[in-house]
Amino acid sequence: MKINVEEGFETFTKEIENKFLQVKGTIPKWLSGTLVRNGPSKFHVEKEKYNHLFDGLAMLHKFSFENKKISYTNKFLRGHSFESSLKKGKIVYAEFATIPKFPLGHRIFLNATRHFTDNASVNVTKIGKSHIAMTETPPRLEFDLHTLDTLGPFHYDDKIRGHLTTAHPKFDYHNNQLINYITNFSMKSTYNIYTIKGGSIKRNILSSIPVKRPAYMHSFGMTKNYIILSEFPLFIDPFRLFLTGTPFIDNLFWKPEHGTTFLLIDKNSGKLVGNFKTEPFFAFHHVNAFEEKGNIILDMISYEDPSIIKSMYLDKLRGGNFSIPIPQMKRYCLDLNNNRITSHVLLKNSLEFPRINYRNYSTKSYNYIYGVNPHNSNGFPLRLVKFSINSSSCKYWYKENNLPGEPVFVPRPGSSKEDDGIIFSLVLDTIKQHSYLLILDGISFCEIARAYVPYAIPLGTHGEYFQ
Ligand code: CO
Repeated sequence: MKINVEEGFETFTKEIENKFLQVKGTIPKWLSGTLVRNGPSKFHVEKEKYNHLFDGLAMLHKFSFENKKISYTNKFLRGHSFESSLKKGKIVYAEFATIPKFPLGHRIFLNATRHFTDNASVNVTKIGKSHIAMTETPPRLEFDLHTLDTLGPFHYDDKIRGHLTTAHPKFDYHNNQLINYITNFSMKSTYNIYTIKGGSIKRNILSSIPVKRPAYMHSFGMTKNYIILSEFPLFIDPFRLFLTGTPFIDNLFWKPEHGTTFLLIDKNSGKLVGNFKTEPFFAFHHVNAFEEKGNIILDMISYEDPSIIKSMYLDKLRGGNFSIPIPQMKRYCLDLNNNRITSHVLLKNSLEFPRINYRNYSTKSYNYIYGVNPHNSNGFPLRLVKFSINSSSCKYWYKENNLPGEPVFVPRPGSSKEDDGIIFSLVLDTIKQHSYLLILDGISFCEIARAYVPYAIPLGTHGEYFQ
């Protein structure tokens, strides 16, 4: 079956502000926050094209809920990459798989001098009082939650430097802190794990781990007492990156003979306390992790190899004739007493963009995962899934020619059941050529409402609900 997915990767530039959306169904009256979703929306600058799904210029979409009504605003993230590219009429910052068409010497200079893109198209979060957009290069952009105006670069109150970070910080509710890491490339590269106390914008280095071959890690794991870095054997060659002026993607090297190493860091002391080796695999997303009877339980969306990364070149996706690798959801058990590791598959025909009831079940034993799930053999995610670990069963939401995005779970205030809440997903109807915000009931996984956006919004990345 050929799926018409091209619409999901087309440039969309229209911006609107505070438009009340037409709603079918009933919006739960307890919804009073704001959902912000990030994603690429401009895939070319005049005649120059971005190559990969991770490269396009970011747009923020906002859905605000009040008195069972939804207002929608969308705006480009106007950082330096966006503004300078549009001003000059060409791409001027290197992205994940695109480099500017500058002479070689100029490109080398840019790669070697921390000339990072601030095209923060991957995720959003809140640090201190600031709402920020994030990607994997260090610059963060602050935006106004009410207007979605870009306020400028977000500056931490410290001098920590580095080259590569994640757009998936962890919230440690137990200690009221945010945790993330940043890799610094040098002759002696390091993974630098940092904490930010609630309300603060100052990063404190918890642990600095020397690394010979830095790995590409899109996210990490956290339990009550530990941080887990999953070093897949997909290594970055920083010197090649700096000295050849080539895009980041071309400096990732798959060396399966090294296997995957889980580095276990004590969250209190910052000490590296464990080193677990297992078979080679690749993942973007950790789902959840927790401690149980002397074991660390680590759930991940696991691929056999990193070919998923190269399957997301835009020309491949737009052609419709693609094959996207299908991951497995796997559970890794790290036995702290004898340094042994075991794993088993939780879900074969697995999901991506995994979300859980994070506020109440992060770092705890849990049952439900929500995600997008492939519906046929080419691997393109066409339906939403709710997976129960305990019963090993799935519930699905599917509508032909409708492409769902990441499902964001919001617990109902006062709820005591893990799945008592709602799920948001921004869906693209490729026939009617418009998008809508779908709201599913968390327990039944059935639609309770949808709000129509009068445009077709390209498929996005991650989003967050701000209360
Ligand atoms: Co991600």
